[in-house]
Amino acid sequence: MNTLTRNSVRTRGQTGALVCAEAHPNIALIKYWGKRDLARNLPAVGSVSITLDTLVTTTRLSLQEAKDQDGFELNGRRATDSELEKLKLLADYFRRLSGSDQTVAVTSENNFPTAAGLASSASGYAALVTALDKAYGTRLSRERLSALARMGSGSAARSLFGGFAQMHVGQSADGEDAIATPLLGKEEWPLEVVVAIASESAKSVSSTVGMEATRNTSPFYQQWLETQNDDIERAIAAIKDRDFTALGTVAEYSCLKMHGLMLSAQPGLVYWNHATIACIHEVRAMRTEGVDVFFTIDAGPQLKAVCAPGTGDLVAARLSAVDGVSRVLRAGLGHGARSVDVAHKNTPG
Ligand code: PMV
Repeated sequence: MNTLTRNSVRTRGQTGALVCAEAHPNIALIKYWGKRDLARNLPAVGSVSITLDTLVTTTRLSLQEAKDQDGFELNGRRATDSELEKLKLLADYFRRLSGSDQTVAVTSENNFPTAAGLASSASGYAALVTALDKAYGTRLSRERLSALARMGSGSAARSLFGGFAQMHVGQSADGEDAIATPLLGKEEWPLEVVVAIASESAKSVSSTVGMEATRNTSPFYQQWLETQNDDIERAIAAIKDRDFTALGTVAEYSCLKMHGLMLSAQPGLVYWNHATIACIHEVRAMRTEGVDVFFTIDAGPQLKAVCAPGTGDLVAARLSAVDGVSRVLRAGLGHGARSVDVAHKNTPG
């Protein structure tokens, strides 16, 4: 019997109960790449994202005696030392705030490939802070939870919100204002997303390592920082106007600019494989045929095709047929991280 199961059957009153939270990954339409403070995990640029619906991280957490160590299991494996360190950092914050000395046993599961450029860290940390808030009874605002999720992973700050969200670069040294805020609800512009899986394996260079390498070695890093706000403003205007073409134009530009920046690091960071490039051409071919679709790609080989409402079926069929694509995942826009009723979730064995 694992730690969580053992604790889940122990009744300790409200704070000792098993809590469950779920969060969805988000994908950036205007990309975040680069940190202004590595230790505090503060972004060097703002970003704009959409939160997905069908891909989900489910996190179960129970409080345990202070003498027990914080425990963390991810997709059935023990967390790495650095993942455990981040859990402890976050749990310590909630312990200080609530005056509790109880530790936590956490299990977290994704229904999609972990660490392959599908933002599993985003949904993971968004679900984790939501579960911690519920377990310790701290009732923090979404904005505050967003700042805490950011300590785990920069993109996680955005998964606190559904639909369209904006991440703010912030000014303060402690990162209090480096938070995400909502831009537009998921129902207000129900875009569809098709993810073309070009590799199932974990990415070779983590985003943190890649960002620091880029900051230290790319001759274009300063221009990247200086041009980001324009892209954010264009994207926000396009979202407000529901202008698909304008949004697609600036999103592909931001994506290719980020990958151009990565390529200009020394040594260059190449996250794509042959299927990624074939998918880019396929998306552009569809667009010349009049299909409303654009692409974006993160720190991994998967291409995410963003489709106007009603065009997902066609785009999924076309991308499934691209050489090197093993399968496609479908999503609409989803809600922000939230705690869910444990009774409606299966208890892990
Ligand atoms: O926050 P991280 O470490 O998952 O970095 C995210 C980096 C990109 O996915 C490439 C871009 C983004 O804004 O999500």
